[in-house]
Amino acid sequence: MKRTRKNRSLGNCVKLWLHPRRMKVLACGQTQMYCLAVVICMVIGFTMQILFSQQRILPVYQDVVRFSTWSAEEQEVPSDMKTCQPKEHIMFLKTHKTASSTILNILHRYGDHHNLTFALPIRYQFGYPYLFHSRRVKGFSPDRKQNYHILCHHMRFNLLEVNKVMPKDSFFFSIIRDPVTMAESSFTYYKNASPAFKKVPSFEVFVDNPLMYYNPNKMNNHYARNMLSFDFGFDHNAQFNTTYAKRIVSNVERTFQLILFSEYFDESLVLLKEALCWELDDMVAFKLNFRSKDSVHTLSPQTVEKLKEWNALDWYLYMHFNRTFWQKVEQFGWERMREEVLQLQKKQQELMKECLQGDKPVEANNIQDDSIRPFQYGQAKILGWVLKPDLDPLVKERCKRIITPELQYKDMLNVKQFPLSKHSVNPGSGTKLLLNQTVLLAGKEQGKHDSEMQTRLSQVNQDSNDQPNKAMR
Ligand SMILES: *[C@@H]1O[C@H](CO)[C@@H](O)[C@H](O)[C@H]1NC(C)=O
Ligand SMILES: *[C@@H]1O[C@H](CO)[C@@H](O)[C@H](O)[C@H]1NC(C)=O
Ligand SMILES: *[C@@H]1O[C@H](CO)[C@@H](O)[C@H](O)[C@H]1NC(C)=O
Ligand SMILES: *[C@@H]1O[C@H](CO)[C@@H](O)[C@H](O)[C@H]1NC(C)=O
Repeated sequence: MKRTRKNRSLGNCVKLWLHPRRMKVLACGQTQMYCLAVVICMVIGFTMQILFSQQRILPVYQDVVRFSTWSAEEQEVPSDMKTCQPKEHIMFLKTHKTASSTILNILHRYGDHHNLTFALPIRYQFGYPYLFHSRRVKGFSPDRKQNYHILCHHMRFNLLEVNKVMPKDSFFFSIIRDPVTMAESSFTYYKNASPAFKKVPSFEVFVDNPLMYYNPNKMNNHYARNMLSFDFGFDHNAQFNTTYAKRIVSNVERTFQLILFSEYFDESLVLLKEALCWELDDMVAFKLNFRSKDSVHTLSPQTVEKLKEWNALDWYLYMHFNRTFWQKVEQFGWERMREEVLQLQKKQQELMKECLQGDKPVEANNIQDDSIRPFQYGQAKILGWVLKPDLDPLVKERCKRIITPELQYKDMLNVKQFPLSKHSVNPGSGTKLLLNQTVLLAGKEQGKHDSEMQTRLSQVNQDSNDQPNKAMR
């Protein structure tokens, strides 16, 4: 009995509250007390909502751990004084051999820290070298709207399908590199994956007469010609003419708000920070997935010229965005850029001192911990980092994330986002598996992937019997 009356009075109160002339609330007689209670609750509710939503908007670091060496005056302008809102809908086209792994680590950590949702590939790439398709996103369904924040793993870009997955206000960016040095890097890395490279005794021999070894119809020959144009989704075998090159450029320009450069990596990070409205601290990273100097070739001027010609579409793209990149720096301000780059480098050095054993990277096979050993592939000696041995557990956790290679980090995010699902690889041997999974970057068809994965999985499981995996937590 009492209960119904109470409910009715509450109903009246709410009606009154919603009524334009709210003053009437005061005149609701018997029910006044309930009214008052409801009003107070609502006020508290609104206040909490406002407070909570502000907390979402402002990227306040809630880390317990602050790196001791970051002194107060080095801190940036507090984020609550910024007029922009940090962008959290991000599409990063991860190109090959362009320092994109380091960018990926930045995105991984930011998203992880802020509990953002990644659109993850079912395995390690989105069906590369095939064009991206939304069905490759783990858990994606066209009928059920999901709010993905970040799409950043290897793909061949396909705007229509990307748009099905990512929100309309997503920030698109990518990174490119001089096609000449990139071609040399690609040769070392994909020597055995690309048919064009396989039978060539040396890079110079290939460059002297590429058409002798290059068959445009062969799978994985995009590693040998115009790899950037290919990754952006264009025809990398098209005969060069300015009409087509301009079309590529204007397409990329229309879709991507920012194109970064591996050659100007720190300046790129500053521009990215600005465009995303993030903090400089979010951009502090260590170089990941890079080669030791002794597997880098120096090229003769003739070779350089031949490579520009052979990769003419990429060269055009590169030259165009090199111009627009420096225009953006000009708009940002040269002096400000210089200062922020110095600040970033200083933060990076301090973090290295805090986290790392020695100031030099080491070869992958000298890294014992599977969870931080970089994936070794091709003829390049890929380097990685070693953590200081006795770090405070919280510092260690954060340091470890900075040097966690992309494949292992992707596995961690997968476990975080799909805690209950069966993983495509057995988590117990996951890292072991991927370190050995040479098919991975060779980019064969998905079907072949499965059977090869199976074979390798059994080999790996045998391996891991005597060397238990400590990677997955
Ligand atoms: C992210 O999620 C974890 C676990 O649910 C929580 O402890 C943490 O506070 C969250 N972080 C942010 C920034 O929301
Ligand atoms: C330029 O190249 C594109 C792609 O190969 C081709 O379709 C087009 O006909 C060419 N245009 C000219 C003017 O040669
Ligand atoms: C890119 O632009 C910078 C600044 O204008 C210039 O110094 C550099 O030579 C350009 N790079 C290439 C490869 O042309
Ligand atoms: C991959 O597996 C082979 C044996 O199957 C092993 O000898 C090799 O060390 C492994 N590579 C890495 C990087 O773990």
